[in-house]
Amino acid sequence: MDVIVADDRAELVEARQALGVGEGGSTLALVPTMGALHEGHRSLMRLAREHADHVAVSIFVNPLQFGPGEDYARYPRTFEADLEVCAAEGVGVVFAPAAEEMYLPDRQVTVSAGPMGTVAEGAFRPGHFDGVLTVVLKLFNLVRPDAAVFGRKDAQQLALIRRMVADLDVPVSVVGAPTIREADGLALSSRNRYLSPEDRTVALALSRALFAGAQEGTPAEIRRAARAVLDAEPEADVDYLILADPATFAEVGDDHGGEAILAVAARVGTTRLIDNVVLTLG
Ligand code: PAF
Repeated sequence: MDVIVADDRAELVEARQALGVGEGGSTLALVPTMGALHEGHRSLMRLAREHADHVAVSIFVNPLQFGPGEDYARYPRTFEADLEVCAAEGVGVVFAPAAEEMYLPDRQVTVSAGPMGTVAEGAFRPGHFDGVLTVVLKLFNLVRPDAAVFGRKDAQQLALIRRMVADLDVPVSVVGAPTIREADGLALSSRNRYLSPEDRTVALALSRALFAGAQEGTPAEIRRAARAVLDAEPEADVDYLILADPATFAEVGDDHGGEAILAVAARVGTTRLIDNVVLTLG
């Protein structure tokens, strides 16, 4: 069956019916995306298939999650190629609304990400996570999936979506998917296509720093090893390097035991990249 493209709410309802979602217990998993699909997104779609009978992909570059001066206008939009990816991965429906379909002109209510939305990535992108959670909740309400799959590369986003689902009793099961990397360690991202060949070499410092930190034992050693790699690459303009508690994204103390996320954000040329690894301490 060809992938169904739904541009608006009515078409989405029809698509759910055409797929038979809800009939005889038939389930749907959603992969929310902003398009410019790559191998990482394909892995999310494959994981989604393991969690439901049908897969929906949303493609929507969400203006609410971009701050002034960020890359909303130039964010890559590759709809026809994205549709081919979805068809090849056996996706049942692609929901691709226009901004006017998603947001009422007189809208007033948004989701607040709370304290976790203001630290780490949130400290550098004020309001970003409010915008992410608002669109994700709207997508959940419109698509009505049983499960939704998000990449662990956006670790703080995933933690906040889990928090929202728990705090607001959203009836969706959230699935985290492993980060997919190039052979040389670069984490896949739609923004990688902005990188010049020279930028790409510089960008490798991010994953190298994380892998160096992951070799160490204590929080101080981990931070020191990762920082040393970043310091050796002055072309990477680092916003933050944190070793954070996965539940709060606050920096962990020296006596922290259990999971911690070593996360980095840096600008390389005109491109801002993020990456992380999950470590077990103690
Ligand atoms: O991770 C993304 O691509 C976006 O933040 C998401 C979850 C699709 C919301 O716009």
